Amino acid sequence: MRLGVAGLGRGFMLTAPSILSHPGIALVAAAAPRAETRAAFEARFGGRAHDSVEALCADPLVEAVYIATPHQMHADHVAAAALAGKAVLVEKPLAVSMADGERMVAAAEAAGIAMIVGPSHSFDGPVAQAREIIASGRHGRLRMVQAFNYTDFLYRPRRPEELVTDQGGGVIFSQAVHQIDIVRLLAGGLARSVTAMTGAWDAARPTEGAYAALVDFENGAFANIAYSGYAHFDSDEWMGWVGELGHDKDEAAYGKARRALADVRGAEEEAALKRRRTFGAEDIPPPAPHHEHFGPVIASLEGADLRLSPQGVHVYANTERHFLPAPAWPAPRHGVLERLIGAVRRGERVVQDGNWGLASLELCHAILQSARGGERVPLRHQVAV
Ligand SMILES: NC(=O)c1ccc[n+]([C@@H]2O[C@H](COP(=O)([O-])OP(=O)(O)OC[C@H]3O[C@@H](n4cnc5c(N)ncnc54)[C@H](O)[C@@H]3O)[C@@H](O)[C@H]2O)c1
Repeated sequence: MRLGVAGLGRGFMLTAPSILSHPGIALVAAAAPRAETRAAFEARFGGRAHDSVEALCADPLVEAVYIATPHQMHADHVAAAALAGKAVLVEKPLAVSMADGERMVAAAEAAGIAMIVGPSHSFDGPVAQAREIIASGRHGRLRMVQAFNYTDFLYRPRRPEELVTDQGGGVIFSQAVHQIDIVRLLAGGLARSVTAMTGAWDAARPTEGAYAALVDFENGAFANIAYSGYAHFDSDEWMGWVGELGHDKDEAAYGKARRALADVRGAEEEAALKRRRTFGAEDIPPPAPHHEHFGPVIASLEGADLRLSPQGVHVYANTERHFLPAPAWPAPRHGVLERLIGAVRRGERVVQDGNWGLASLELCHAILQSARGGERVPLRHQVAV
C-alpha cells in the first residue's frame, strides 16, 4: 500500500519504525511546510515531498494518507483527503472540538473514504489480545477496568498551544484519549457517563497535567482511569522498565525531562527543542523490541483478572494463573497498519473509525466538563465495538 504522510513531526517519528518495517507498505510521499524537511524526506525515501497537504492528497501515487499534523489541523487535512478520495489514518485525538470531529466524520462518509483514528494504544498487541479473551466469554463478563499511567508528559518540550487546554493542550486530549480508547475497546465501547477530577498544578505550564475519571458503560462494566504527567513517579517501573513505545528504559535517567527543560528560555526555544526530535533533525530509530503500552491495565471479569504487560496478558483465573504471550510483530505499531491496509485494500471495517474517534473525543470533553462543574456527565455520541 502506497502511503503518504502529512506532518513529519514527533508523531510520525514514533510510527515511522513500524511503517518502514512493514513489508506491505511503501512510503511514497509526504507534506511538510519546511523546505529542509522536504529535502530530507526525498533524500531518505526517494519519494515526493509536497509543500501542502492538498498537493499530497492529489498525488496519484498516494493511496492512503497518515495525518500526523497538530490536533487543530486534523479537520482541514481530513477534508483535503476526502476531496481527493484518499483513505486516512488520522492521529489521535480526532480533533479538538466536537464540531470539527463531526465535520470530519461527515466528510469521510460523504466521500466514501475509510478513516481510522490512531495509532492509539488501543491498537497495541496485548490490548487486542485482552479484547479477544474478553469477547470469547470464557471468563464470564467484564466488570471493571483499572488503568493508570505516571509519565513525564507535561515536561517534554511542547509547542505553545500544547499547554493551552482550549487549543487541545494538556493531558486530556493527548493522553486520556489513549486510556479512553483502551477501556472502551475492552468494555464494548458504549460508555454511559463520566465523573472526573483534573489537576493543573504547575502555574508555569497551566494546563491539565493529571486526572482521575470514573466511566460507566451500558453493559454494567465500569472503568477507573488515572494519569499524572508531572514527571515524578514513573509507572514504567511497574511495567518491567519497558517504556510506552516498547523500548527498554534506563531507570538511571530519572529527572531527565525536567532537567532538559530547566535550561530552556521561553516558548520559542521550547518549540525549537521539540523540533529537534522530529524528522530531519533526528534519525528514525529501529523498531522497539517489545509491544507498546500505556501503563498498568487490569481488566476484572467474573472469573479472572487480566493484567496487560508489554509481552502479553497475565490471566489470574479462579484456581490457576497463566501467561499468554502477545503475537510477535515486526514492530509495535504493526497492528494499526494492518488495519489500515485491510480497510484500504479489502474494505474491512475497523473499530477505531471516525465515529469511534468522535465518541472518545466526547469523553475527553466530558472529563473536562465534569471536573469544572462537579457533575456526572452523560454521554450521547458513543458507539459499540
Ligand atoms: N500516537 C502517538 O503516540 C502520538 C505521539 C505523538 C504525537 N501524536 C499526534 O501527532 C499529532 C502531531 O503532534 P506532534 O507531537 O507530532 O507535533 P509536531 O509539532 O512534532 O509535528 C507536527 C508536524 O506537522 C507539521 N505541520 C504543521 N503544519 C503543517 C501543514 N499545514 N502541512 C504539513 N505538515 C504540517 C509540522 O511542521 C510538524 O513537523 C498530534 O495530533 C498528536 O496527538 C501521536
